[in-house]
Amino acid sequence: MRLRSSPERWGAIAQLLHWTVALLVIVLIGLGLWMQTLPTSPDKIRLYALHKSLGLTVLALMLLRIGWRGLDRRPPFPAGMPRWQQRLARLTHALLYLLLLLMPLSGWLYNSASNFALRWFGLFSLPPLVAPDPVLKAASHAVHELGGWILIGLLVVHVGAALKHHVLDRDDTLIRMLPFASRRNKEPPC
Ligand code: HEM
Repeated sequence: MRLRSSPERWGAIAQLLHWTVALLVIVLIGLGLWMQTLPTSPDKIRLYALHKSLGLTVLALMLLRIGWRGLDRRPPFPAGMPRWQQRLARLTHALLYLLLLLMPLSGWLYNSASNFALRWFGLFSLPPLVAPDPVLKAASHAVHELGGWILIGLLVVHVGAALKHHVLDRDDTLIRMLPFASRRNKEPPC
């Protein structure tokens, strides 16, 4: 498998970044919603620390992903895909990128404004983004909470669209993001 993307499929680096971020985001959303419901305990604090470290990992991977996107080419949409669907796909992808930067940054901001220390998997410390501030604390918390729900909505649209392409349209949209599946439509994309 090639490292760079081709007109037919996503390359190994784009696929690795896509599926790693996808897995981390699913874990982060589940953990984020669950951990807050737990009674205060050392385990709860450990889960918060894990959530923060995984969230910072997503931030680093997203910055890598954006950098790689600038160097790599994007496989075109499948042949015959209507313009409105192409526009909707572009909009959904742009919003996903935005949310996947906004979520870790608002979390980091919330953590800083709350005056909590921040360590990545206990290995090194990250500096606070702002001094302790109750107004910023409430605002960044609201952004993180609302952003989480918007992200869930976007993921439903994104996964739903991928499944629609695979099951109903029977094109290669999903297959070309999978490492081991072989293409079923051999005609050139548009
Ligand atoms: C892609 C990255 C991230 C995602 C998808 C994510 C997602 C979530 C979600 C869905 C919640 C529950 C929100 C709610 O209903 O109140 C949450 C809570 C939380 N997140 Fe994140 N998060 C991310 C990154 C971070 C980072 C980097 C930090 C801190 C450095 C952080 C700190 C927190 C904290 C402290 C809470 C609990 C808030 C509370 O107790 O009310 N998150 N996160």
